[in-house]
Amino acid sequence: MALVEIRNLTKVFPHSESAFGGKSRGEVRAVDDVSLDIQAGETLGLVGESGSGKSTLGRLILRLIEPTSGSVRFEGRDLLAAGRGEMRGLRRDMQIIFQDPFASLDPRFRVEDVIAEPLIIHGRVIRGDAGRSGPAKLDVRARVTELLRAVGLDESARTRYPHEFSGGQRQRIGIARALALRTKFIVCDEPVSALDVSVGAQIVNLLAQLQRDFGLTYLFISHSMPVVRYLSTRIAVMYRGKIVEVGDTSQITERPAHAYTRSLLEATPELLV
Ligand SMILES: Nc1ncnc2c1ncn2[C@@H]1O[C@H](COP(=O)(O)OP(=O)(O)O)[C@@H](O)[C@H]1O
Ligand SMILES: [Mg+2]
Repeated sequence: MALVEIRNLTKVFPHSESAFGGKSRGEVRAVDDVSLDIQAGETLGLVGESGSGKSTLGRLILRLIEPTSGSVRFEGRDLLAAGRGEMRGLRRDMQIIFQDPFASLDPRFRVEDVIAEPLIIHGRVIRGDAGRSGPAKLDVRARVTELLRAVGLDESARTRYPHEFSGGQRQRIGIARALALRTKFIVCDEPVSALDVSVGAQIVNLLAQLQRDFGLTYLFISHSMPVVRYLSTRIAVMYRGKIVEVGDTSQITERPAHAYTRSLLEATPELLV
């Protein structure tokens, strides 16, 4: 059994997001009848040009948005049939990291608050205890310190603010937050796309290291074939809402079957690392 089983997943938006405000341009099949398996311990790369539906697919898999039709199973459990309580449990096992990890976070949060928030939300510590001395506070501090070390940051980062850090360091903080609940599966949605190539390479290497250390499974989304090929066990190629091709990384990069895959390979001939 695959860790994640996606069957006939479809998302139709009533109209496309448009800069021209208000004018409907008809419905958009952002994700169109996608079926995929993601095996425990692998990195499945998801590559395609901007607007092809990658982020929508990632969000559907985590049930951050509801599909129009189709199903997602995680460890055999039907996510779309899960009630609130079961979904809450499942949320611990599935996390997402974004291109800009702090776009949606309160700027008054310190790094410690950002990383500890999932622990507090999921009842790993009592909220009131975070501000008191005593065992619960020490537990949070110890866990945050452990997570900072795991992502290559100094313990002193704990009491600083995310905006004090560089883009690469902020991405490390976002990864620490995703790891806080000992998660199993992470959707990485363009996590290095906003970073310089060398900084991005360090983050990609960190993700690979964490995968080995913690047995993580990734869906790694990028518009860049060199980034995807470096990290992925297998690659799925997405074009206009559909998966046009899926296979082992060597097969996709050396013997692409689809013309669109060949165009992605030709557009990005340089290697990341
Ligand atoms: N919330 C939304 N409402 C309407 N259209 C959307 C929404 N989110 C995404 N879309 C549309 O769905 C398509 C796929 O978008 P997205 O999944 O963000 O692609 P990608 O991540 O590959 O760039 C695009 O045409 C986009 O405009
Ligand atoms: Mg996207």
